[in-house]
Amino acid sequence: MTRFTEWSDPFAEHLHQKFKDKKGALLPILHDIQDALGHIPPAAIRHICDSLNLSKAEVDGVISFYHDFKKEHDGRFSIKVCRAEACQSSGSEELISHIQKRLTQDGTDTEFHIEAVYCLGNCALSPSVMMKEKLYGRVTPNRFDHLLTQERTNHA
Ligand code: FES
Repeated sequence: MTRFTEWSDPFAEHLHQKFKDKKGALLPILHDIQDALGHIPPAAIRHICDSLNLSKAEVDGVISFYHDFKKEHDGRFSIKVCRAEACQSSGSEELISHIQKRLTQDGTDTEFHIEAVYCLGNCALSPSVMMKEKLYGRVTPNRFDHLLTQERTNHA
């Protein structure tokens, strides 16, 4: 799968193909852009307005309503850790403590931050974590360390 790191015509086309027949596509489109780029750039907002026939005020209203969405990149990407029941009972709280410690210790808190979410739809493989559009299940502290190293290598 292509990984998009900036807004571009191919990214716009990818989203068009993915959501062209879906009703209520605004939120999933915004999530995909936010997850891939770490924010929703102005060019993406213009594209969404044109393709979904929405006004800029409507799209801006949704972006500012949900705290998941940012119009400016703060330089960090989210590590979404599920805190819902199935993941909690499989150790997500311990995992969050581990991630916080790890990010602080090695200084990667300038690149990543933890975001608590409530169910990533991957309950059978809890605890679940999502980084940059990719969903991971059965994430132990050791596995997380490995995934973080991999993620940093991919974007170095
Ligand atoms: S409870 Fe964590 S993925 Fe559903």
